[in-house]
Amino acid sequence: MSTLHVALLGFGTVGKGIYETIGKQQDHLRAVIGKEVKVSTIVVKDLGHHADYQGSAKLTTDMQEIIQDQKIDVVMEAIVGKQPAFDYLQQCIIQGKHVITANKEMFAAYGCALQKLAEKHHTKIAYEATTAGGIPIIATIQQLLQANHINNIQAILNGTSNFILTAMRTDHLSFDKALEKAQELGYAEADPTNDIDGHDAYFKAMILSELVFGRKPAPENIQVTGIRDISSDFLQSACPKRIKHLVTLARTDGDIICRIEPQALSETHPLFAVEGVDNAVHLQTDILGNLTLTGPGAGALPTASAMIEDLCTIVKEEQAVLPIEKALAPHY
Ligand SMILES: NC(=O)c1ccc[n+]([C@@H]2O[C@H](COP(=O)([O-])OP(=O)(O)OC[C@H]3O[C@@H](n4cnc5c(N)ncnc54)[C@H](OP(=O)(O)O)[C@@H]3O)[C@@H](O)[C@H]2O)c1
Repeated sequence: MSTLHVALLGFGTVGKGIYETIGKQQDHLRAVIGKEVKVSTIVVKDLGHHADYQGSAKLTTDMQEIIQDQKIDVVMEAIVGKQPAFDYLQQCIIQGKHVITANKEMFAAYGCALQKLAEKHHTKIAYEATTAGGIPIIATIQQLLQANHINNIQAILNGTSNFILTAMRTDHLSFDKALEKAQELGYAEADPTNDIDGHDAYFKAMILSELVFGRKPAPENIQVTGIRDISSDFLQSACPKRIKHLVTLARTDGDIICRIEPQALSETHPLFAVEGVDNAVHLQTDILGNLTLTGPGAGALPTASAMIEDLCTIVKEEQAVLPIEKALAPHY
């Protein structure tokens, strides 16, 4: 049986989740893609953070060990921020490697450029884990768009904000206490700015906009308001409605608009019951009608699941193309 050689870029929450899941799911992966999956190299920023590492893959800080290794077929990227992730992935694609990313900030900025580069070099790029964690929203939208137009999206895309708003309403906590609770439970970072000010939801909204509408909204059509000014009294006064940090993306008169803001939802709204750290995406399509997907929006295992699904899709797409190429090749 042949081996698929994989490299990991980043070995934090997500990187470790991928590594452990690939290890545990070997038999399943063999059955699905007919290949052994081997993580051969992992790139991190500081080896000192990994003094207790005992795995079999080589741990290094030198990205060239991935880029120059001809054996590596797929690079799974889970580091933080636009750079150096963008440069690294460009170099991997130029070397003919497929890439899978969880890095929403980088992909929101450079997703189109990477997709064009991948097309040019006949490699694949997959980004399911960038948006709504374990919910297969990218694959679902790609599938739907073959027969439908999607005109409107409403979504809860940040689990931390949703957890804080839920805890403030149900446990009558102040914003600060609810944030503290989220941090204690590992749902919020020490610096929660990206989550509570709407930046994280904004990155995901831009990725969805490019996928669904082929472009981002013009800057004047984007409005982002976070949740840090919301009080527990305000949440109680909205009852029986619930305040949710809602992402709305819509096409109106040729423009795309994006609003990310706290909104009061009535009991009949499809996202009313989305509580705690869950995410959800509600799509309005012209042929299918409406569709709502709900599930875990973050975490090591949901994110690993999304990235390993991407891995299997890439391998299966390659396997489907190869016999056609063979059939089309001249016979001498
Ligand atoms: N956590 C989630 O639930 C989740 C869900 C969906 C998407 N994501 C996205 O996935 C990515 C990773 O998130 P995470 O939670 O796993 O982050 P994390 O726990 O902070 O881990 C980040 C990893 O990236 C490495 N790294 C950072 N800068 C690097 C550089 N310049 N070169 C090489 N390695 C570098 C770090 O190396 P050291 O270990 O040496 O410090 C660390 O291993 C982010 O882009 C995030 O937005 C996360």
